[in-house]
Amino acid sequence: MRFRRCLHLFLEPREISWFDLTSLLDGGNGIKREQRWIALAPHLEEEVEVGRLESELLGSISPMDWTDGDALEPVQHEAIMRLLDAGLLLDEKESGVFAARDKQMREGNWWGPAALMHRFGRWYDCDSVASMEADGLTTAAGLCEKLGPPPPEMGRREDIAEHVVLPKSAGDFDAFLARRATCRNFETDRPLPLADFSTLMHRVFAAQARVEADGVAAFLKKNVPSGGGLHAMEAYLVVRHVGGLQAGLYHYDPVRHGIDRLAQPMPDLDVFSRTALAGQHWFAEAPVLVVLVARYSRMYWKYRRHSKAYRALILDAGHLSQLLYLCATEAGMGAFVTSAINEVDIERGFGLDPLLEGPLAICGFGYRASAMNTAEFDPNGTVWEAAVD
Ligand SMILES: Cc1cc2nc3c(=O)[nH]c(=O)nc-3n(C[C@H](O)[C@H](O)[C@H](O)COP(=O)(O)O)c2cc1C
Repeated sequence: MRFRRCLHLFLEPREISWFDLTSLLDGGNGIKREQRWIALAPHLEEEVEVGRLESELLGSISPMDWTDGDALEPVQHEAIMRLLDAGLLLDEKESGVFAARDKQMREGNWWGPAALMHRFGRWYDCDSVASMEADGLTTAAGLCEKLGPPPPEMGRREDIAEHVVLPKSAGDFDAFLARRATCRNFETDRPLPLADFSTLMHRVFAAQARVEADGVAAFLKKNVPSGGGLHAMEAYLVVRHVGGLQAGLYHYDPVRHGIDRLAQPMPDLDVFSRTALAGQHWFAEAPVLVVLVARYSRMYWKYRRHSKAYRALILDAGHLSQLLYLCATEAGMGAFVTSAINEVDIERGFGLDPLLEGPLAICGFGYRASAMNTAEFDPNGTVWEAAVD
């Protein structure tokens, strides 16, 4: 038998604590603590607890060269078998799911720490609204009561030589920018007109040009900047209520400016939208949700095992969402972005292979409702009071 370690592996010495009545009765503080080794391997869906011997073995086995297991002591052999079963070691002759995923990681050119952060930061079936309500963290007053006051609203330097007051601009463009606010109240009575949907998709997500280089590579020009000019962000759509379109799950084609309805099983879109948005019903009612999905292979083709590449993907998501906000505002609509999403549920719903493509954020847009049921941040009254006038 020959085996090697999976490519990316991080071992965390984690302290587990729990309430223990015996410790309290013995005069202690009632808290027991224990140290455990947790193996975090990004090609796996779950973390794996390992013993001391297993963690030592993992530290001594190459992820590149195959190790011959014939000369192992019985106790080591057992530990090796456990690590093979968990997918932390790969048998040279095995071609199962662990081997396939480890191969994807080897070919995927991830920077290991980014893979770790992304893979273990994903949520499944998490209701962030319910947990924030249970913790009393939904209002500023609740936050301050539970967490104490936050750091000041802006950074200040003590070592100032001089303060220079700058002139302000107050033109039409400034008035337009002031009308941008995260929308949490969408009109649900009538469908979003197809033309309005199409205009926004074209302005924000379409390729404005396609350029071929060397006959083998193509690059897109869009209305947003993109790390490496690679535009590795895909727009997957939950079309909920758009005139003339069948509700369902779509993928946007930025070159032809069209949408492909997926042949995936159609979920209940109310449930799917709410789950995808981790319980945020105020966003789930938008007529269109745009899931920003990073295509890692495109970004990591150029930035191989690069410590900034994942950050560039996140910045790309930010640019797209801000442009969506601005285009929606210009069109008299509202938009939102959130990173509080259930990535795993989304991957399953859209049939994405999470080692190749992954959701980073969800945006949405549509016309605002006439009444505000969920709070929006409009301290100058540029959105809601202007609408009432
Ligand atoms: C990365 C990111 C994540 C956000 N996540 C949420 C969210 O989960 N829920 C929500 O209601 N708003 C979310 N927002 C919107 C912010 O709460 C909002 O931008 C902020 O309160 C300022 O309000 P404004 O956008 O109206 O100026 C998010 C914004 C950003 C940029």
